[in-house]
Amino acid sequence: MKKSFILAMMAIIVASCTAKEPKVLITYFSASGTTKSLSQDLAKATGADLFEIEGAQPYTADDVNLGNREARAFKEMADKAMRPELKESPKNLKDYDVVYIGFPIWGNYAPNIIYTFIEQNDLKGKTVIIFSTSGSSDLTNSFNYIKQQYPDLNLVEGTTLKRNPTPEARQAVIEKLKQAIPAEK
Ligand SMILES: Cc1cc2nc3c(=O)[nH]c(=O)nc-3n(C[C@H](O)[C@H](O)[C@H](O)COP(=O)(O)O)c2cc1C
Repeated sequence: MKKSFILAMMAIIVASCTAKEPKVLITYFSASGTTKSLSQDLAKATGADLFEIEGAQPYTADDVNLGNREARAFKEMADKAMRPELKESPKNLKDYDVVYIGFPIWGNYAPNIIYTFIEQNDLKGKTVIIFSTSGSSDLTNSFNYIKQQYPDLNLVEGTTLKRNPTPEARQAVIEKLKQAIPAEK
């Protein structure tokens, strides 16, 4: 009895010494600041690093003008094969175990630049948590499309922050996204 107790305690001590805190990176694309602000607050809540996904050609207010069907965002939404060029990729992605990818929902999907990001960065073997902000759309449609396009990735469906949230609703989104980080190994 005594011996088994000592062995159990030793096992716990060894496990706690070898437990590895996952290294977390929050990547996000944001055209008008909402996803950026959510990502910054999520970084504060998790202690994660931040990386902004930006276009080589920056997105202007005109590019995302919902009143202009000729705007860049509409052209990109109309052609799912279009891959807007990235300004840059994270230099130390290999160091991270968990990578969040956040974006505003456009036309019920992720903006195409998110597909560029996924295709140009090696995310295999990492936990990839998808999240979004939106007017009213849920994340599920965007998430399912990403899952279907990139079946080799270990994707986790986060959640979306909808327009004009109460402080409690915003905090609940941050908490849910924080909980999506897998437990230490
Ligand atoms: C081109 C475009 C398409 C959009 N499509 C949707 C949509 O399908 N569903 C939705 O709920 N919101 C939609 N929105 C609203 C954005 O998802 C929402 O305002 C988001 O929070 C903006 O994030 P950002 O400030 O980080 O760019 C769209 C906005 C733009 C500019």
